[in-house]
Amino acid sequence: MASFLWILLFSVGFRIAGAKIYDSLSELEKSQFDFIICGGGNAGLVLANRLSENPAVQVLVIEAGGRTQDDPDTQIPFLDINLLADRAKYQWNTTTTPQKGLLGKTINYPRGFGLGGSTAHNGMIWIKGSVDDYDNWAKVTGDDGWSYNALEPYMKKVERFTNPTEKGPDFVNGKFNPQAHGFQGPLGISIIGNEDRIDDLVVEVLKSKEFNMSVVDGNDKSSLGIWWIQSSVSGGTRSSSATSYLDPIDCRPNLSVVINTQVTRVIQTKKGDFRTVEVAGGPKEPRQTFTACKEVILSAGVVGSAQLLLLSGIGHKQELAAVGVKLTHESPNVGKGLSNQPQTLFSWEGNFTMNSLIANQTFFDESLARWNKNHTGPMNTVPANLVSAFRLPENSTLLKGIEDPSAGPRTPHYYMGLATTEYFNSGSQPTIGAVLQVSEPISRGSVTLNSNDPFDQPNVDLAFLVEDLDTQILLQAYRTAKAQIEHPLMKGFALDRLSPPPEVQIDDDIIIYMRNNTIATSHAVGTAAMSRNGSHDGVVGPDLKVKGINGLRVVDASVFPVNLQMNNQAAVYHLAERASDLIKHEWHL
Ligand SMILES: Cc1cc2nc3c(=O)[nH]c(=O)nc-3n(C[C@H](O)[C@H](O)[C@H](O)COP(=O)(O)OP(=O)(O)OC[C@H]3O[C@@H](n4cnc5c(N)ncnc54)[C@H](O)[C@@H]3O)c2cc1C
Ligand SMILES: *[C@@H]1O[C@H](CO)[C@@H](O)[C@H](O)[C@H]1NC(C)=O
Ligand SMILES: *[C@@H]1O[C@H](CO)[C@@H](O)[C@H](O)[C@H]1NC(C)=O
Ligand SMILES: *[C@@H]1O[C@H](CO)[C@@H](O)[C@H](O)[C@H]1NC(C)=O
Ligand SMILES: *[C@@H]1O[C@H](CO)[C@@H](O)[C@H](O)[C@H]1NC(C)=O
Ligand SMILES: *[C@@H]1O[C@H](CO)[C@@H](O)[C@H](O)[C@H]1NC(C)=O
Ligand SMILES: *[C@@H]1O[C@H](CO)[C@@H](O)[C@H](O)[C@H]1NC(C)=O
Ligand SMILES: *[C@@H]1O[C@H](CO)[C@@H](O)[C@H](O)[C@H]1NC(C)=O
Ligand SMILES: *[C@@H]1O[C@H](CO)[C@@H](O)[C@H](O)[C@H]1NC(C)=O
Ligand SMILES: *[C@@H]1O[C@H](CO)[C@@H](O)[C@H](O)[C@H]1NC(C)=O
Repeated sequence: MASFLWILLFSVGFRIAGAKIYDSLSELEKSQFDFIICGGGNAGLVLANRLSENPAVQVLVIEAGGRTQDDPDTQIPFLDINLLADRAKYQWNTTTTPQKGLLGKTINYPRGFGLGGSTAHNGMIWIKGSVDDYDNWAKVTGDDGWSYNALEPYMKKVERFTNPTEKGPDFVNGKFNPQAHGFQGPLGISIIGNEDRIDDLVVEVLKSKEFNMSVVDGNDKSSLGIWWIQSSVSGGTRSSSATSYLDPIDCRPNLSVVINTQVTRVIQTKKGDFRTVEVAGGPKEPRQTFTACKEVILSAGVVGSAQLLLLSGIGHKQELAAVGVKLTHESPNVGKGLSNQPQTLFSWEGNFTMNSLIANQTFFDESLARWNKNHTGPMNTVPANLVSAFRLPENSTLLKGIEDPSAGPRTPHYYMGLATTEYFNSGSQPTIGAVLQVSEPISRGSVTLNSNDPFDQPNVDLAFLVEDLDTQILLQAYRTAKAQIEHPLMKGFALDRLSPPPEVQIDDDIIIYMRNNTIATSHAVGTAAMSRNGSHDGVVGPDLKVKGINGLRVVDASVFPVNLQMNNQAAVYHLAERASDLIKHEWHL
């Protein structure tokens, strides 16, 4: 009797405690699951949530990093600044190979490490691809399910559009189109509403006859125009895939998440069958294996998923042999085709006074106390409130005789944000920053193995500014930013250029400045690209399964064939929502 009661209590306790976030491998009792998801980041936690909706399905997520959700640095928008150093918590501290287009320099390539992955760590900008971007996926894959129209229900399913904490609902009127948004989804989105002194001026300048632009909702099919940034923030707090897709459901007994554990490779158990993963708690820890009855899903991100495919012997035969990895399945495009957006900051002296969160501890403490009280105030600062997106003019000589590098006429060639926030003012000198970015660069980089040690960082080549077209588009972006700064409406507000200094004038010198100061956005895509059934391009089919083998899918930014108009977390959420349905459909779940 006593032991029966004990068993009953134990099993009840087990279910309630059922949260199942295991801090280490040794706590996990089972070694078989239906689905094993490698990487608890942006895509990984969407899949974890959707696949475990069915209580009969056993799901395991394996994440290399730890928890991120309890840390004010991930919750409070401005404190994101603490996560952006070259080496910082919640990132992999990856350095690129020497960049040919950047005067041979190496730069940091931040990528998320820990639950939520890059969504726990990113700049929180919430922007979909343009209608052309998704329609291009449909064209590349021959699968209409990836078109904008077909994905629209998933776009709405993700989102819970909310009002800012700062302002009443009037503030967002005219700044977004409710038709283009979802209001019931797990992921909170808002226009932050903590104004920057430059915002209204930028809108006026861009609406003037010289630019003739209008305010648009950048998430309504196209971002061409002036766009009030929407952020993955609601109630003044960051929404990550961990806070929105994992925390609300972490009591599902059929979902297990093990953290602080790295997947080291996927093992082929019989010819063409890849359903066993090898993992370890650290370089010196013993390797252990887990097997999926149904599928292994790689969601380790654009660097991590390519690295895992290569470590598993799925890649280019000679390149694998050169680092001592035995080929299991020839797939020569793994790691190739990486595309990422180069970003350069130019700055001007601003004629205004400012108080600094970074330099003035009193102001910082006061602002933090205010955020803690009602989630408003300066702690709600994001890098910029407005973005403007441009196409090269139709008659631009840059486009003569070449294929348009953008996905279509509703898609920009470059975009920029003008702001006076402390992301650009850290020395307390009043500064206007212009952040410029190429939308859909044509240069292609790669992820390759440095060695066969899974704990060794792979080589990441972003190939920034290798193709002259990308460089010329960035130069054009600079000219457009300069024309805004020099517009009569900015007179007396924007003063001399600070960076580069005024004496840097001719195009060749501006280009050298760009090469010397371009930084990595972490929007890389394409290292396991989707392509048509039967085509030898890419790595995965339209159903995201690795071509030519069984049991293995890739669901994350690495399957995007090319960059989208702007940042890409939104597209990863959309991709993962549809992928969940594809998987459920295939297994009749
Ligand atoms: C600093 C920064 C700023 C950004 N700013 C923005 C922005 O403002 N707006 C926007 O839209 N996008 C932004 N992005 C890009 C966007 O967040 C990412 O492109 C997107 O979230 C990637 O999703 P993912 O699922 O492909 O990978 P991730 O979210 O990176 O997830 C991969 C996960 O896999 C884990 N992992 C990797 N290898 C292994 C392994 N071997 N074993 C176990 N786990 C592993 C990682 O730790 C990580 O948690 C930014 C990214 C960064 C890093
Ligand atoms: C759910 O998970 C628990 C614990 O892992 C397991 O005992 C139970 O059988 C699972 N339920 C179903 C319906 O598979
Ligand atoms: C990156 O560096 C930071 C700071 O040194 C550290 O906290 C973090 O764990 C490192 N990331 C990895 C994956 O080692
Ligand atoms: C691609 O092939 C898979 C497997 O045969 C099939 O299920 C899918 O419908 C095909 N997709 C397209 C777009 O043809
Ligand atoms: C400004 O743009 C509108 C369309 O948005 C167009 O109708 C108008 O002709 C343009 N004006 C000028 C001066 O280019
Ligand atoms: C620092 O901030 C406090 C509080 O906002 C303000 O009163 C003070 O003037 C600031 N000090 C400086 C040097 O700007
Ligand atoms: C939040 O608190 C601050 C500081 O006490 C106050 O000035 C502000 O009006 C409050 N805002 C809201 C929306 O309650
Ligand atoms: C492109 O057209 C504009 C007017 O629409 C004109 O001012 C400009 O000179 C043209 N540029 C080229 C390179 O032809
Ligand atoms: C700075 O702005 C003030 C008004 O705010 C103006 O009087 C002054 O001339 C400006 N300074 C410069 C250098 O333009
Ligand atoms: C690149 O930038 C560094 C640091 O700002 C500077 O010292 C160096 O002279 C610059 N190099 C070139 C070629 O401009």
